[in-house]
Amino acid sequence: MTQDELKALVGQAALQYVVPGEIVGVGTGSTVNKFIDALASMKDRIKGAVSSSVASTERLQALGIPVFDSNAVEELSVYIDGADEIDGRGYMIKGGGAALTREKIVAAQSRRFVCIADESKLVGTLGRFPVPVEVIPMATQRLIRQFAAMGGSAQVRMKDGKALVTDNGQSIVDVSGLRIADPLAFEDEVSQWPGVVTVGVFAHQKAAVCLLGTAGGVRTIE
Ligand code: 5RP
Repeated sequence: MTQDELKALVGQAALQYVVPGEIVGVGTGSTVNKFIDALASMKDRIKGAVSSSVASTERLQALGIPVFDSNAVEELSVYIDGADEIDGRGYMIKGGGAALTREKIVAAQSRRFVCIADESKLVGTLGRFPVPVEVIPMATQRLIRQFAAMGGSAQVRMKDGKALVTDNGQSIVDVSGLRIADPLAFEDEVSQWPGVVTVGVFAHQKAAVCLLGTAGGVRTIE
């Protein structure tokens, strides 16, 4: 199976976690796009979605799925999103699509995070994928030096020759060369640095369930 087919497989499998009659939390990325497409088949059985990005909102609305403001909803029973890396405990690196801040917000208001990913995303220890960090632009260079002091190499993410601007109007730095043995401690430390909006290590908002697309079918890790 191709990576695209594995993504479609888990996107479809995630439908079993959607609670009929409720609003579902929806992440961002190519795997989530497969889930959104599958969700259209049950759009008449859900109230709608809370979305984690402009891109997902546009895709949901194009398929006729109502999108609610996160402030209009107290709690969601489930949030479905992809990951750039996930370990066997449900800790993740996210933000490859630059949507990490809204993803963490919607994950935080959800009782259960269901991660959907192809098997290439499963790792023993987080850190092979550069950690995305959303930052306030005026703090970028100081934060790059702080990551260097901890052994990482940080670069500003570019798009069309300019610093990428997130849905929240901020920048992203991608930090490579880190081995994140203690994701909770890492998230706690970096989140406190002035100028950091969101660090793309999801330890406090870890996945409760991971649906992993493999050549043999969907493997569920709980
Ligand atoms: C976006 C994300 C995505 O969930 C992550 O990058 C995985 O994306 P894909 O499903 O395209 O591999 O965190 O900010």
